[in-house]
Amino acid sequence: MWNELLKDRVAVISGSAMGMGRAAAVLFARHGAKVLVADVDDERGHDTMELIRQAGGDAAFAHCDVSNWADVRSMVEVALRTWGRIDVLYNNAAATRLCNEKDRAAHELDEHVWDRQIDITLKGVYLCSKACVPTMLEHGRGVILNVSSCDAILPEGGFDSYTAAKGGVISLTKSMAVNYGKKGIRINCISPGYVITDVQKKWFDDNPAAVKAVEGYHLTRRLGRPEDVANMAVFLASDLAEFITGAIIPVDGGYQMYKGSDAQRFCRD
Ligand SMILES: NC(=O)c1ccc[n+]([C@@H]2O[C@H](COP(=O)([O-])OP(=O)(O)OC[C@H]3O[C@@H](n4cnc5c(N)ncnc54)[C@H](O)[C@@H]3O)[C@@H](O)[C@H]2O)c1
Repeated sequence: MWNELLKDRVAVISGSAMGMGRAAAVLFARHGAKVLVADVDDERGHDTMELIRQAGGDAAFAHCDVSNWADVRSMVEVALRTWGRIDVLYNNAAATRLCNEKDRAAHELDEHVWDRQIDITLKGVYLCSKACVPTMLEHGRGVILNVSSCDAILPEGGFDSYTAAKGGVISLTKSMAVNYGKKGIRINCISPGYVITDVQKKWFDDNPAAVKAVEGYHLTRRLGRPEDVANMAVFLASDLAEFITGAIIPVDGGYQMYKGSDAQRFCRD
């Protein structure tokens, strides 16, 4: 059944208080998953949990800073205590606000901003995976979804800590896919183009000159919506994707293809 792609799967989704993480949490639940909403933002995290429950789904909330091992371990304990296993880990959390507000080219980049960005956006993926893999190995199956960015492959420039962290997420995805593939765990990475979430909307509102340029890099004549990425995540988490692992999958309206090709010379308005 199309609406039961994740029936009874237990999914832990980091950074699901808002944005794409929230869209994924809601869609996973609609497909029958039991969802652990994990985030540093307790208020919005509870809102996501309530959205799911009010629609008849099964969800719990855990406060979790993905860069903090104690938080990550207690997040996993909540999922195991509530449902007894973890089938899917969706590493969606990233320091997006830090990227938009404080990221810079290397020579202007504050060392503490670099450290915090790497801690949340890259180390957070490692810590959450470290905590979830043992239970997946025990059950002989599992899915890990990571999120990179088109910016890691074709950087705009000026966001050096975020771009580096997201590049690391791609390499980590490939390395983990090799580590665990033959043990039943599939690991893939979604690489979104520009997706309009509340944070992105604020950035666009503050940087009107950038909007037209960014829109121009997308072949679909619109920027992304959180649901575009959530749809891919549901597919990758489901058995429909059981032959896919170690893949870096763009969900980017053609951004990488267009920006990386000569086509833009001919297609510009
Ligand atoms: N929006 C885009 O255009 C875009 C493009 C490419 C990639 N991405 C990636 O997609 C993912 C989702 O992006 P979004 O735009 O929905 O982000 P968002 O800023 O809307 O949401 C990020 C969520 O992560 C949470 N978070 C932040 N730090 C955390 C931490 N230390 N521990 C746990 N949770 C934390 C926030 O509270 C928030 O709920 C991110 O990995 C982002 O880097 C986004």
